[in-house]
Amino acid sequence: MARAGTAVLRLTVPAIAGALALSGAPCFSSPDDPVLAAFVALGPDGVPTARAITRAGQCPVLTLDGREVPMQLRAAPATEPLRPTASTPDLSKPSAFPVRVCDLTVPEGTASAVLGSRPLPLPPKHINRIVVIGDTGCRLKAKDDAWQACNDPQQYPFARIATQAAAWKPDLVVHVGDYLYRENPCPEGEAGCTGSPWGYGWDAWDADFFQPGAPLLAVAPWALARGNHENCARAGQGWWRLLDPRPLLAGRDCNDPGNDTAGDYSPPYAVPLGDGAQVVVMDLSHAGTGKIAPSDPHAAQYRQTARMLAEMAAGKTFTFAVDHYPFLAVTAQAGKNGQIKLKAGNKALNRLFGKENKHVMPKGVDVLLAGHVHLWEQVDLGGKQPSQFVAGFSGTQEDTVPLPQVLPAKVTPLPGTPVRRFDAIVASFGYMTLERTGRKTWHAAVFDVDGQKLRDCRINGRRSQCRAAL
Ligand SMILES: [Fe+2]
Repeated sequence: MARAGTAVLRLTVPAIAGALALSGAPCFSSPDDPVLAAFVALGPDGVPTARAITRAGQCPVLTLDGREVPMQLRAAPATEPLRPTASTPDLSKPSAFPVRVCDLTVPEGTASAVLGSRPLPLPPKHINRIVVIGDTGCRLKAKDDAWQACNDPQQYPFARIATQAAAWKPDLVVHVGDYLYRENPCPEGEAGCTGSPWGYGWDAWDADFFQPGAPLLAVAPWALARGNHENCARAGQGWWRLLDPRPLLAGRDCNDPGNDTAGDYSPPYAVPLGDGAQVVVMDLSHAGTGKIAPSDPHAAQYRQTARMLAEMAAGKTFTFAVDHYPFLAVTAQAGKNGQIKLKAGNKALNRLFGKENKHVMPKGVDVLLAGHVHLWEQVDLGGKQPSQFVAGFSGTQEDTVPLPQVLPAKVTPLPGTPVRRFDAIVASFGYMTLERTGRKTWHAAVFDVDGQKLRDCRINGRRSQCRAAL
């Protein structure tokens, strides 16, 4: 919930940091500081991993409650050999990571973690304030002839969003996936993206995620869902090296395409929020939106996720399940004659989950959080299924086909499960917040890039209701 006092805060430290990010200067780091990025990722059981990315020759030391502890090497600087990617060979290059990635698991009960002059944000026992963002990169993609103006903060506003969202002072940030969009070189004459790094190496990751996201990385730990842009054939090497909270293992690092089935999936994990609430993070990032053949090895993996989600949700007071692809959203596509075609639900994922559970989503799962669709959306299905929220509107070029305010009755993500309430914001960048208001209740809000509130929503178990903010 936006509070009266936050307006002043929005113009102080984070605003300065955001301005630095927009100017291309690294945030929270002096030119002499070899640490290029530092953050805390919450992994299985909510265990915090402090991570530093440095150009120094060794890993830095972290000060935990006044005690110095050396960080452990996760990945040494390397250039990975060129592997087949989603881009054509002439628009591909080996991924260079001329940086050292360092980790340290922060022991339970640690009150403070400091890296040089940077305090790192540790999770409070009760996580009550959550920022949700998604699809944050700047789209440079030859196949679609899409050249977003990465150099223009009006047209690529992730740094502004990170600054605003940081001023809201979250306890946790949830990213619903798709971090890296700068896949191909900006063509000559495209002034808006001139000079942008591209490909899947460190320079593109830094420009697309770590620099603009720095204000938000500094204030709260993150729960990181993986998007299809982080598949092995795209930015998967960087996903494993830089972001995933779990160990970096040979054979799951996306370097050898022969191992992609293993590299493109991980079992889900739960991040406790306190008082029996939790966020379950799922990696269904290779699912796509079309059919998944029963013989596809990912089908068995996703059914494993469905089973594990059911086990994790059992007995909990509130469960947010996060993945990149929405299960229960409604999307709009423009037809050839200008008519709008509505599509509801991810049929393949719903079918696979339905094989494990006749109700599709396991009991105890209250809210689904996803991205992939570049807009904000809320779908309430009367309590038969969790409410679905989509927050893929935090930086990348947006979807502009309008969605109706009231859906035709036949448009529903699951047969026999009508949409009871529906809301969407199209063509407005922003971020969503979740604030705990009770044992099974949360207040959700949606803000634009300037921190103006657009929506207030009440979540009560599986039910949700939104209204325009005054
Ligand atoms: Fe996506």
